[in-house]
Amino acid sequence: MSKKYYIANWKMNPDTLREARALALSVARGVKGVKGAEVVICPSFVFLGEIGAAPFIKIGAQDCFWEKKGAYTGEVSPIQLRALGCSYVILGHSERRQYLGETAEQVKAKIRMALVAGLRPVVCVGEEKKGSHVQLGTRLKQLIKGLDRKDAQRLLVVYEPVWAISTTKGGREAEASDLAGPVREIRRVLRALFGSRPVPVLYGGSVEPDNVADFMGIQGIDGVLVGGASLKASEFSALVRKGQGR
Ligand code: PGA
Repeated sequence: MSKKYYIANWKMNPDTLREARALALSVARGVKGVKGAEVVICPSFVFLGEIGAAPFIKIGAQDCFWEKKGAYTGEVSPIQLRALGCSYVILGHSERRQYLGETAEQVKAKIRMALVAGLRPVVCVGEEKKGSHVQLGTRLKQLIKGLDRKDAQRLLVVYEPVWAISTTKGGREAEASDLAGPVREIRRVLRALFGSRPVPVLYGGSVEPDNVADFMGIQGIDGVLVGGASLKASEFSALVRKGQGR
């Protein structure tokens, strides 16, 4: 059985280092012994250095800059992240597009520099409105076209429909049947660009302990990206266990 990915995106939470440390340690304890799962916690930059030491989990960042170093006030380079012990970096999350105006060009450049730094980019794509996923393949191609096959092996792609994110106003939960078309499209693009290289495809959007098994059961899905439900250790640990059929 291939490895399954459970990526916790804490977003701009919690408030203190104490809480962050406690949460990470509880998750590590909660997922101890679960086989075949790569559990990744992505906290805010400010907590990364402290959480790296927790056992059984990997750490990732929620963003990085597209240059290695230099005069870029407020930015964090992928080289710095790698030096801190990060293995992954989420790139292109819809909230960065929505609140910061992050463009496809920027995300594309970030993916490349993250790869140079030795990080695994977790590339998010998803449509704003339900049913409008026809653009999905084009968007994904725009971000990853031109990467070589070796780079492709380090890539992860997340299907993250904005309308299904737990904090989206007026949004609603996706059902397993909503994923078939988009996941097929993502897989089609990955095959066209990289042949049979296995790129993990994840799902993100209101994933919880109660529905994780449905999403993990979909053909072509290798893991989940979890926002809200990753902020309670017991909930996230249960989610990982249920996703692994435990
Ligand atoms: P959520 O967030 O799990 O809170 O819906 C998911 C995401 O932002 O991708």
